[in-house]
Amino acid sequence: MRPKGGSGAKPRWLAAQACRAVLDRGQALDEAFASLLGAVEDSRDRSLVRRLANGVMRDWPALDFLVRQLLERPMKAGDRIVFFLLAVAVHELRDGREPDHAVVHAAVAAAAGFRGGRLRGLVNAVLRNFLRQRDTLEVMVAEDPARSRGYPRWLIERIEADWPAEAEAILAAGNRVPPLWLRTNRRRWSREQALDMLTEAGLQAHLPKDFPDALVLDERVRVSELPGIADGALSVQDGAAQLVVEEMELEDGQRVLDACAAPGGKSAHILERADVELTALDIDGDRLKRVGENLERIGHDAQLTVGNAAEPRAWWDGRQFDRILIDAPCSATGVIRRHPDIRWLRRTADVEALVATQRAMLDALWPLLKPGGILVYATCSVLVVENAGQVQPFLERHADARVIEHTELPGRAAGPGRQLLPGDENCDGFYCLAARRLQ
Ligand SMILES: C[S@@+](CC[C@H](N)C(=O)[O-])C[C@H]1O[C@@H](n2cnc3c(N)ncnc32)[C@H](O)[C@@H]1O
Repeated sequence: MRPKGGSGAKPRWLAAQACRAVLDRGQALDEAFASLLGAVEDSRDRSLVRRLANGVMRDWPALDFLVRQLLERPMKAGDRIVFFLLAVAVHELRDGREPDHAVVHAAVAAAAGFRGGRLRGLVNAVLRNFLRQRDTLEVMVAEDPARSRGYPRWLIERIEADWPAEAEAILAAGNRVPPLWLRTNRRRWSREQALDMLTEAGLQAHLPKDFPDALVLDERVRVSELPGIADGALSVQDGAAQLVVEEMELEDGQRVLDACAAPGGKSAHILERADVELTALDIDGDRLKRVGENLERIGHDAQLTVGNAAEPRAWWDGRQFDRILIDAPCSATGVIRRHPDIRWLRRTADVEALVATQRAMLDALWPLLKPGGILVYATCSVLVVENAGQVQPFLERHADARVIEHTELPGRAAGPGRQLLPGDENCDGFYCLAARRLQ
């Protein structure tokens, strides 16, 4: 189907398709964008599709409720895409960035190319009814937390159980659009020099305290347009993730394993900070290629190895490492503000499987660490079971592991280790623990 005419029909239709890919088919939003946006020439249209689909993810329970409420009878399965088109339009009407009539016009135009346009009248009627009844409907949304909070019930319950006092703030932070954090490549320049260059380019940014390599942009810009990105002098990386290298205590000449390396953000940071012999391991060969590209951009390389971190016998050469980083696969509940689809893609059962993988990696990699070496375990999760709940039993299983406390770094003590909750210091949610192996 091809939406007819201009009037913003195409981006609305594509946004509806992207939402459907996530919510009906369980596809990640980034994957949906990759297949849908390739043929979209206008970068403003691509940005609009992204903004609308991300917005629907943040508000899905309310939008699902509102569209159901407004339809006189359930949408036929074959017309399901129009349900998502209505959700996109209702989101836009509630968002208020565009005039109401323009939103309705674009949605009706988008429906014109579907099944000979026979649902145009329905789209028009539903959206006009929303505008007429919006006050009453919004009260109905506000009265029911399951509709207004924008998260699946299981996740709300888990976050409330783990962080009773902070849960509301965590959920709210996950619904805010995050700032753009940048990392300065120390080998190329200082962050003060990078700030000067951004200022000269007419961009507002600041240097956050306690994040030695970081700059934060104070305005929205397209990353590809930023000076310094293409040649690796600057990289995009959240502040919380940038603190991992501080925990690693890197020195020239060390042998380092980045056990879950793709797409290579932390591998690149490690190599920007010290001349180390780096093995970048990942189980996913396609993702590992992106590590190679990322390292090439900053002018470094590493031993790239495809393998399972929990089964080192298949890839390890028998020489122990001075430093091991396990940036573990996790629920990603700390980065929901960047990837609002995560809340609809993850299931409780996924968390249990991830916890088992994390545990297997920790136990399998610990013997690969030299006595006196440091292992750093990190997740972008806020769930205790993946963080302190994972690490405490690990420490009990390994009598030769000693926690290194990093009270000088941002974050709160969370059992053994350091936790940033989403929004703390303007960062993503992140957990990090460093442990030294006794001699
Ligand atoms: C959180 S991401 C790593 C992000 C990366 N460290 C960075 O900074 O760009 C987790 C990675 O773990 C990888 N992974 C998952 N299970 C693995 C396993 N058993 N062994 C090695 N890598 C694994 C995934 O393919 C994914 O690339």
